[in-house]
Amino acid sequence: MAKLIIEGGRALKGQITVQGAKNAALPILAAAMLIPEPVRIGNCPRLTDVEHMAGLLRALGCRVDWTGDGLVVDAGCARTAALPEDLAGSIRSSVFLLGPLLGRFGAAEAPYPGGCDIGNRPVDLHLKGFRAMGVKVDEASGRIRCLGRPRGTEIALEYPSVGATENLLMAACGAEGDTILVNPAREPEIDDLMAFLNGAGFDLRREGSSRIRVRGGRRGHGTAHAILPDRIEAGTYLTAAAITGGHLVLRGARKEHLSALLTALKEAGCRIRSEGTDLDIEGPERPKELRRLVTLPYPGFPTDMQSQVFALCTVARGTSVLEENVFEDRFRHGAELRRMGADCDLRGRSAVIRGVKSLHGATVTARDLRGGAALALAGLRADGVTVMEQAERIDRGYVDFAATLRQAGAAIRREDD
Ligand code: UD1
Repeated sequence: MAKLIIEGGRALKGQITVQGAKNAALPILAAAMLIPEPVRIGNCPRLTDVEHMAGLLRALGCRVDWTGDGLVVDAGCARTAALPEDLAGSIRSSVFLLGPLLGRFGAAEAPYPGGCDIGNRPVDLHLKGFRAMGVKVDEASGRIRCLGRPRGTEIALEYPSVGATENLLMAACGAEGDTILVNPAREPEIDDLMAFLNGAGFDLRREGSSRIRVRGGRRGHGTAHAILPDRIEAGTYLTAAAITGGHLVLRGARKEHLSALLTALKEAGCRIRSEGTDLDIEGPERPKELRRLVTLPYPGFPTDMQSQVFALCTVARGTSVLEENVFEDRFRHGAELRRMGADCDLRGRSAVIRGVKSLHGATVTARDLRGGAALALAGLRADGVTVMEQAERIDRGYVDFAATLRQAGAAIRREDD
C-alpha cells in the first residue's frame, strides 16, 4: 500500500518529458505473441500493467527482457495458449492475448475478465467478432475458451471499442483470407499497433476513417518499434499546470492527439503554444468553467482525461457540466473531491460541478487509476496537506508520478507501507 502526501498551493514550473503510451504498449506486447522471432519494443513505459503483461507472456513460454528503454520479446518458444488464472485475473488487458493466440495457434484460453473499478466491462464485442471469424467460443465456468483458426470476413462493430478493434486486428493477422473491420476505433494507439504489425510483415490498412482491411495468411518476422508518446500522461501534466496556475513545457507530446483536451484547457483560460514536439502551457490564476464537456470515442474528449478535468472544474469560476458517455461508473472521484471542499452533484452519467474558490487538504482514496491522478491534481491546488491512500493504483499508468511532479516544483512525496 502506498500514500501520496501533498502540500498544496505551489504553481508547477519546469519541463516534463512524456513517456511511451501504456495503452499502446499493452496491445503491442500482446501482439508480439503473433511473431515467432524476437521483437524490440522501445520507449516502453515501466508501469505495473506493463510488468504484468510481461509476466503473462513469460507464463505462455516467451522470453521477455528489459534492455535500455524497451522490452525484447521472443515468442518463438511459446508453447501454450492457455493463460494461468492467478496472473491473468490481475490485469484486464490479458484479454488482448486472445486475438494473437488465436492468430498464432488457432486456440486461446483465458479467465473471464469480469468487472473493474470503473464499471462493468464486458468483452461481448471481442467474442462476437471471433465467432464471426468462425472461431468456436465457449464461456462456461468463468473461462473463455476459443478454438479454431480464424477465417477472414467482414465484421461490423456496433460500437468502436478500442480493445475489440485491437483483438480482432491481431486475430485477423493470423487468419486465412482478408478481414474488413467496419466502424473500428480511431484512437492513435490503434494506429501504433498497426504500425508495429506492419513493421513485422503483416498488412493492415485504414480505408477512410470507418474501415480497416487486414490481409491474412502472412507470417510475422522480427522487428523494432518505438511506442508513441502517452497522450493521457501528457494531458494529466497539462491539467496539473492548468489547476495550479503553473507554467510547464511538455516535451515529446503529440499535439494532434490532444486536440479535444487542448480545446477544453483553452476554454478554461490556459495559454497553450506548441513548437515541434514541445507543448508550452500557462494556467490561469483561476480556471473558467467548462459549460458542457462530453466524453466520446476518439477524436472526442477522452474518458481517461475526464477525472483530471473534473478536478480542474472544482475550482473554476462558474458551473461546469461533464457527461461521461464511455464508462458507466466513472465519477467515484467526485465523492472524494467533496471531502476536499468540492461542490458537485453526480447523477448517472452527468456531473454538475459548481466551482469553489479554494479546496482544502483532506485524506482521500484513489478509487481507480485516473481518478487517483485527479485527486493528486486537486491536492496540488488545495490549501494545506492532502493524503491520498491507495496511491499504488496510479503506478498502473504513470512512471514515477510523484518524482515527476516534484521536479516541476510540487511538494509531493510517497510513502510505501
Ligand atoms: C481502452 C483503454 C482505456 C480507455 C478505453 C476508452 C487500454 C488498455 N485501455 O479500454 O484506458 O478508457 O479504451 O477509451 O487501451 N464495451 C462493450 N463490449 C465490449 C467492449 C467494450 O460493451 O466487448 C464497452 C465498455 O464497457 C465501455 C465501452 O465499450 O463502456 C468502451 O470500451 P473500450 O473502448 O473497449 O475500452 P477498453 O478497450 O476496455
